[in-house]
Amino acid sequence: MTVRKKVPFVTFRTRVRDESLEGPNPYRWEDKTSEDYFGGKRVILFSLPGAFTPTCSTYQLPNFEKLYEEFEKAGIDAIYCVSVNDAFVMNAWGKSLGLQKVELIPDGSGEFTRKMGMLVAKDNLGFGMRSWRYAALINNCVVEQWFEEEGFSDNCETDPYGISSPQSVLETLKVAA
Ligand code: BEZ
Repeated sequence: MTVRKKVPFVTFRTRVRDESLEGPNPYRWEDKTSEDYFGGKRVILFSLPGAFTPTCSTYQLPNFEKLYEEFEKAGIDAIYCVSVNDAFVMNAWGKSLGLQKVELIPDGSGEFTRKMGMLVAKDNLGFGMRSWRYAALINNCVVEQWFEEEGFSDNCETDPYGISSPQSVLETLKVAA
């Protein structure tokens, strides 16, 4: 779906490795804003219900990583995965998958997801508020294409996955090129 909507301006609290720090856990807080991630770039953002969950860990995130070069050929400068999980969880997830290319964005408080209109209850799974699955093509902070799974709802009994898959997003980019 073609749209023109500005991404919400929020500050994400990330944790970055800093070798100048001593001790067994050399990480420090680094704030990054929507402008840092989305300004002056043409990027893909995808969002999912939770780090370490099966579909996200087995298909969606690894396949965005595998297809990264294809996205680059289609004019994409970066691919971001956002989830309502804190920076510690997101870093551990990226490490467990050996992620090199896709960047993880921790939206621990859910502020970005809420302002995108994508926050849903997942109390039925004991998750609390999380993100509905979607992906977006964002050009210099403006959403230009929108890929939202069907059935947006609280406590959804199913986990629709297809429209926001890397294959689906890439196909749309290639057709539009
Ligand atoms: C999954 O990615 O498979 C998943 C996501 C949310 C809840 C349960 C499973």
